[in-house]
Order: sequence, then structure tokens, then C-alpha cells
Amino acid sequence: MYSEKVMEHFQNPRNVGEIENASGVGTVGNAKCGDIMRIYLDIDENKIIRDVKFKTFGCGAAVATSSMATELVKGKTIEEAMQVTNRAVMEALDGLPPVKVHCSLLAEEAIHAALWDYAEKHEIKIEGLEKPKSDIHEEEEEEEEY
Ligand code: FES
Repeated sequence: MYSEKVMEHFQNPRNVGEIENASGVGTVGNAKCGDIMRIYLDIDENKIIRDVKFKTFGCGAAVATSSMATELVKGKTIEEAMQVTNRAVMEALDGLPPVKVHCSLLAEEAIHAALWDYAEKHEIKIEGLEKPKSDIHEEEEEEEEY
């Protein structure tokens, strides 16, 4: 069902973890499957993504797509990172089964949410970036626990 690349990234995910004082953090969730993905970006003064980490509470495809998505944006400029769509992530993984396409969308949305957070903090506008729809803020997450 899964390509070798998906299995490989699922078993050995790259860039797992968090970045303290990250330039931008984005958390998105999919209400349907309940999976959550968080991406941390460390962006330098030349707007290059110096480092990126992720945490995914989700299915195997979500772990593999976050791993691949972080690999694809690492060392890139913000503009280049904007080109990393869920399609690009899927292609890099040699495809995903149709029922798992939404998992790759979560990766794209998480990167966009983290870039949005960075843009807001620096009061800049990133060309083509729209306000993330499913960004789950920490406070909201905490509230849900009660
Ligand atoms: Fe929802 Fe994979 S099943 S992210």
C-alpha cells in the first residue's frame, strides 16, 4: 500500500523535535481523523530556513509527509518553501494512497501556519500566503482538555 520511501520516512523520520524560541510555529489538525501536526521554523535574517523540526500526533502517512516536508524546506528561502505543496511532498515520497492524501495536506498547512506565525511576528507579508484555516492555537488545545 505504501511506497518504500513512505515506509522509510515513517520508520526513520527526519527532523523530529522542537525548536526553542522558534521564528515561527504552526499547528494544524484534521478534525476528521483527529491527527495533529506542529512545525517549528528557525529563519535567519536573510529569510533562509536554517532549521526545521516537527511533532506529529498522527498516522504513519502524516509522520512520513511531515518528515519529507521538513527535508524539502530545510535550507530554503521562504519563497522556495512556499512552493512545497502537498503535491510536491507526495511526489517526493513516490505517491500516497488516495485515502491518505489529506495527511500530506496537513504537512503543507502546518508549514504555511508556521510561516504565517513568522510573518505576523515580523510584521511582514509573504506573497501568496493565506491565513491558515485550521491553525489550532495552544490555548484552544488546552481548553479542549477540560
Ligand atoms: Fe489523518 Fe493521516 S489519517 S493525517
